[in-house]
Amino acid sequence: MTLTLAEGSHVIYALQKTRRYKVISIDNYHNSHPAALSRVAQLAKDNLPPNPAEFEKESTVIDEYKCDLTNSDEVRAVFEKYGKGGIWGVIHIAAHKAVGESSEIPLTYYFNNVVATISLLQIMSDYDCTRLVYSSSATVYGTPPEIPIPETTRLRADSPYGTTKIMCEQIIEDLCHSEPKRWRAISLRYFNPAGAHPSGLIGEDPRGRPGNLLPLLAQMAGGRVKDPVLKVFGNDYPTIDGTCVRDYLHVLDLASGHLLALEALSPDSNVFDDCEGPRHKAYNLGKGKGTSVLQIVEAMRKATGYNFKCEVIGRRRGDVPDLTADPSLAERELGFRAPQDLETMCRDLWNWQTKNPQGYAGV
Ligand code: UD1
Repeated sequence: MTLTLAEGSHVIYALQKTRRYKVISIDNYHNSHPAALSRVAQLAKDNLPPNPAEFEKESTVIDEYKCDLTNSDEVRAVFEKYGKGGIWGVIHIAAHKAVGESSEIPLTYYFNNVVATISLLQIMSDYDCTRLVYSSSATVYGTPPEIPIPETTRLRADSPYGTTKIMCEQIIEDLCHSEPKRWRAISLRYFNPAGAHPSGLIGEDPRGRPGNLLPLLAQMAGGRVKDPVLKVFGNDYPTIDGTCVRDYLHVLDLASGHLLALEALSPDSNVFDDCEGPRHKAYNLGKGKGTSVLQIVEAMRKATGYNFKCEVIGRRRGDVPDLTADPSLAERELGFRAPQDLETMCRDLWNWQTKNPQGYAGV
């Protein structure tokens, strides 16, 4: 039911915690590691009550398939195993996600993110699996005219990556429009996920040098990345201290948003009652609280005890001054909350880093 990235293992954790879902994972392990699946399953097993029912035991077992979403024959073979109507719904998380890289190799991004999504939707339709939670991104807002950002903001991407997310949302919308009685879908616009499960068993393990701020700081403090100074991309933005502001939320809170979205696709949910047209909705998943780059560095200094040296360099292409969510729609309609604070995110990230200094490769 789910695919790739650090978020993927935390989403599986949230589903398995309910003991009501049987998870099927399709992943090509491009940016993830199979060890994450065995570890998350272990967490589910540890979470079982003393005399678990058969279905509860079954919920801790992940059916794993190593295949690539762009290979429709492989994906079709997985759906074939469960038969028509055999898969209740899909959480589609798989995508390339580096903004800078997407400008260098746009065709790879369009193929991997858009073509794969079309192929997945076609296969889902063929197998009567018509409930979808789609991972979108705050990047669909480009440089937003209004902060905090409501979902009604016009969509305008500043990179091919962002365009792939807008295109996929549109494709899903059109599909839901074409068969309104059949399809239900929710797009989740992620702000900046951070942290890790507090056990330190699962976490983000990007390939190579991390491009994102928090994993980079964690690996600098842990010595995995040898950079002596953090390059701060610009301090002349119209923000509290001139550095970019983002809306960081704990990855477990983000994961809980997927569970709520999945449940909102059920026939019993009233989330789509106000929809006259297609049953597709988009929600922001953020805390609604902005934090600057320098504030993040300070929070990580406190969590790690490491004294980061910073050097301000020029702006990074494609960065926008402020991406802070208005999460009130997700709160109202899905019951979504992101209560965990920045200190907890940094503590859990550092716990993951110290327990897995080389990521999953050290397993
Ligand atoms: C980025 C992507 C976003 C994507 C997300 C995936 C951009 C513009 N956005 O978000 O679309 O969904 O990653 O997780 O690339 N920073 C530094 N120095 C560094 C690294 C980062 O100053 O070495 C700053 C950046 O300028 C930014 C902030 O830290 O203001 C956060 O950066 P990052 O973690 O890369 O996230 P986003 O850029 O918000």
